[in-house]
Amino acid sequence: MNWKRTHTCGDLSLQQKGQKVILNGWIDRRRDHGSLIFLDLRDRYGLTQVRVDPKSSCYEEAKKLRGEYVIAVAGMVEQRPEGMINNKIKTGEIEVNASAIKVFNAAQTTPFIISGERNVTEDLRLKYRYLDLRRPEMQRNLFIRNQTYQIVRNYFYEKQFVEIETPFLMKSTPEGARDYLVPSRIWRGRFYALPQSPQQYKQLLMIAGFDRYFQIVRCFRDEDLRADRQPEFTQIDVEMSFVDEEDIFPIMEGLMAAIYREVKGISITLPIPRLPYEAAMSRYGSDKPDLRFGMEIENITQFAAGSEFKIFREVAQSDGLVGALCLPHCASYSRKQIDDLTDYVKVRGAAGLVAIKVKENDWDSSLNKFFSSALRQKILAVMGARSEDLLLIVADKRDIALAVLGDLRCHIAQKESLIPEDKLALAWIVDFPLFEYSAEEGRYVARHHPFTAPKPGQEALLLKSPGEVQARAYDLILNGMEVAGGSIRIHEAALQEKMFQALGITREEATEKFGFLLNALSYGAPPHGGIAFGFDRLIMILAGCDSIREVIAFPKTASAMSLMDESPSLVSPEQLKELGLRLQDQTQQEG
Ligand code: AMO
Repeated sequence: MNWKRTHTCGDLSLQQKGQKVILNGWIDRRRDHGSLIFLDLRDRYGLTQVRVDPKSSCYEEAKKLRGEYVIAVAGMVEQRPEGMINNKIKTGEIEVNASAIKVFNAAQTTPFIISGERNVTEDLRLKYRYLDLRRPEMQRNLFIRNQTYQIVRNYFYEKQFVEIETPFLMKSTPEGARDYLVPSRIWRGRFYALPQSPQQYKQLLMIAGFDRYFQIVRCFRDEDLRADRQPEFTQIDVEMSFVDEEDIFPIMEGLMAAIYREVKGISITLPIPRLPYEAAMSRYGSDKPDLRFGMEIENITQFAAGSEFKIFREVAQSDGLVGALCLPHCASYSRKQIDDLTDYVKVRGAAGLVAIKVKENDWDSSLNKFFSSALRQKILAVMGARSEDLLLIVADKRDIALAVLGDLRCHIAQKESLIPEDKLALAWIVDFPLFEYSAEEGRYVARHHPFTAPKPGQEALLLKSPGEVQARAYDLILNGMEVAGGSIRIHEAALQEKMFQALGITREEATEKFGFLLNALSYGAPPHGGIAFGFDRLIMILAGCDSIREVIAFPKTASAMSLMDESPSLVSPEQLKELGLRLQDQTQQEG
């Protein structure tokens, strides 16, 4: 008999009533109802109920079936009796009355039930990812991912962007995260690096004259992982020639609008607002603020300076910042709740937290005596605080106070459910500083990457006053997450060399690491710029998940392990020998 399916498990409805059909799929559940046996047959497309009557010739066979067996069922499509209709599934009005069953493959008892309760640890899910991926939720996430690939490709193809693959084996040019290295067998002692991004290649493609490039590309970074970071992740990488910010932004905004329109049926208001880096830091304490809710940081340093409260006065006098948040209706917080928040800020490096309850339009605090009534009222007015609100104040060095208040703002918003889940808050963060000082390395490092152009007219400051230079860099943020980052690039070799100089990279080092790019810049490089989207992060937000692991088919754990294939793994001494490598610590090799 031919056991090829005539329909999928998501196809059948009353339209096929009375038809003989064949279905193929996995047994999601087997239920015995007295003498009747019901099988829920599952495939990618849906679930169909199969009924096996005691008088059917396949009844004995059906008794032996278990969950996750892969079978074919032949039978008649019948209308379900009144009261048995399931409106939750597409096929809920029918069932297939089985006349024959073929088992393609039996299955061991799975380590967790595929459909149903989700009380499974992530480690177990990752170890048996192929089973985890049978779950409709996971398949849905990957379908959203797939749909988004197609939207992105069509969007750029229509706009004459060229998709070009760039190498995975490249020169190691660490500047940012750590590189993953690949030893060469042919060139013993030499290494390739896996690209952290195709940054240099896409610039070379502009120099080569491709004008508009994009690629959906895997990137590799050996960095500490978090819920929104993976050692290998995917970017939508874009580069364009003869452009400035005003050409790049609308194209990226159009892409976001197309994705949201097609995947979610939501229309995004364009243009996306822009927020300067300095404003983001001072109002939200973050360069990727969550703009779905308010509760902005207020700078009350000038008022604190006029108080008798010693700690505040000292911070104000030493150029620090006294910043405050107003928590609406939180004056009822208990001692313990406030202590927990104090611990929260201390772990993040602040010296302490001052909490002031607002009652009857005045402060209800032991600190009242240090502040004149007028000062207390001024602070309440500036904060927009009302009775029954709670003020939380951090006084510290500016960077610390802002960062801590920024974290605290999000922490409280989450706890108090102040974040509207269905809201989308997009913004461009612009006017970033070009450099940041790394105390660890004792030098300025590029905030973005060393190919980012300074703002026009600020070139002269590169060596004189690097801390003041602003970059032509931009990030796109969505709901408190950086979903894309890019910049206008340096396209002149002389300026690029100056940039390396400012970064403390010697000419020899620059030539050794980036010689090919510097060389290329000297053969007629067009002005160019671009951006890269964190594709996994975008899908995570679209799918409403809280970790990018939920939208990657085979992710690594937070400790960069693949629990399924147990990589990274040891390799044989022969493999090492072939590569000319010897492990320093032999015990590592032996595990
Ligand atoms: P950047 O380093 O900002 O820029 O990366 C671009 C975007 O990639 C995402 N991202 C990550 N996603 C998951 N896991 C990670 N470990 C990870 N690291 C980054 C973020 C980020 O916004 N070449 C430049 C882009 C350019 O200038 O055009 C670059 O790679 O969403």
